[in-house]
Amino acid sequence: MSSKMQPVRGTRDIFGDDSKYFEKVINVASDYAKRFNFQFASTPIFEFSEVFHRTLGETSDIISKETYTFADRDDTSITLRPEFTAGLVRAFISNGLTQSTPVKWFSYGPIFRYERPQKGRYRQFNQINFEALGVKGALSDVEMISLGNGILKELGIIKDISLELNTLGDAESRKHYREKLVQYFSRYEKDLSEDSKIRLIKNPLRILDSKDEGDKKIVLDAPKIFDCLNDESKKFFDDVQDNLELLNIRFKVNPKIVRGLDYYTHTVFEFVTDKLGAQGTVLAGGRYDGLVEVMGGPATPAVGFASGVERLMELMKVDAPLFSKSGLVYVLGIGDEGEKAAAMLAHTMREIGYIIEIDHGIKLAKKFQRADKLGAKLALIIGDEELKKQKIKVKKLETGEEDWVNIKSLSLIGI
Ligand code: HAM
Repeated sequence: MSSKMQPVRGTRDIFGDDSKYFEKVINVASDYAKRFNFQFASTPIFEFSEVFHRTLGETSDIISKETYTFADRDDTSITLRPEFTAGLVRAFISNGLTQSTPVKWFSYGPIFRYERPQKGRYRQFNQINFEALGVKGALSDVEMISLGNGILKELGIIKDISLELNTLGDAESRKHYREKLVQYFSRYEKDLSEDSKIRLIKNPLRILDSKDEGDKKIVLDAPKIFDCLNDESKKFFDDVQDNLELLNIRFKVNPKIVRGLDYYTHTVFEFVTDKLGAQGTVLAGGRYDGLVEVMGGPATPAVGFASGVERLMELMKVDAPLFSKSGLVYVLGIGDEGEKAAAMLAHTMREIGYIIEIDHGIKLAKKFQRADKLGAKLALIIGDEELKKQKIKVKKLETGEEDWVNIKSLSLIGI
């Protein structure tokens, strides 16, 4: 086969067992969206490049080296979405919703980042994403965190996940912090990596996030945000922590969390696990009070998060494997008349709501093999003998036990 007939590096197909996990994630997220009164919203997979470039930060890894950006046929610069937030904020502004707050949106779908592929890290992956626009106050952040926490709990994976929290303060505190960082890092300028030399001018905060070993050593003694927070920012962060405690949501403050995107203010949080190797962040987000204004709308407080569906799926396979096949019933016809009767039975049972698998026109031995392989709970067998008696043979596949039942009494046996 030509290598062009393979999936592109960093992309994958979802089918078979994976599709059950995928569906479950989307169903649970949609259910929680309803409970928290979020509406489903879908924006295009590509936008004008400006939507992402200025807003996420020119010096962030995502923008500086990971976007899929190309010239459209009329030479307009287009970018495949590397996250949901900026596109949703664009939609919030361009659809004239800025006076209709709060706007609470749930989305899911593919995201594109040109990263180095490895387990849990893809170039096309899926996110579930929640944004609340026009909401202020620490309680809104806590509500968002409890939404994320609820989804992870419902998926059965919370036991291997912990919540880490930090604050980046408001604009004033950030400015103060930035000055302190510039002062500090300027002293080590010649030892910084080439990337961080640029960050020092454009966005010194990004240096804290550097993966370069030399940078990491310098970062160890860098000033801490907590020393630069004004009273209001301090109180905001205290309120977030106090109210998380009231909801019994456990967390750890981790001053190293700066997030990979530039738009955050105040609270940032990550739900992390050590069960997925290097790619431990399962769900992450925070407050972004300045983004709507940066994108041309009125000042609007907002908070949100996203979670990588593939990472959730991997964790579910470890912690909460799905056995959804157990409800499956295999209907098995023998001979021409038996096959016809089986097709009718399958039809009726599906209408009532049973999950039915049936194969037509294959050998009998093969049908039994298929019923086993599919992990069906029961096989309902109809052949000449059964037709004569107007009964169906019911075989419990786990135990091999067989029984004859009248078709009308099927619902009584609890399939
Ligand atoms: P993010 O931290 O860049 O945040 O991505 C959110 C989640 O997407 C990560 O925690 C991870 O689970 C998943 N993820 C990221 N990159 C990959 C990848 N290459 N392969 C597989 N999964 C990945 C955002 O995207 C923000 N927009 C979140 C947000 C919403 N903040 C406010 N509102």
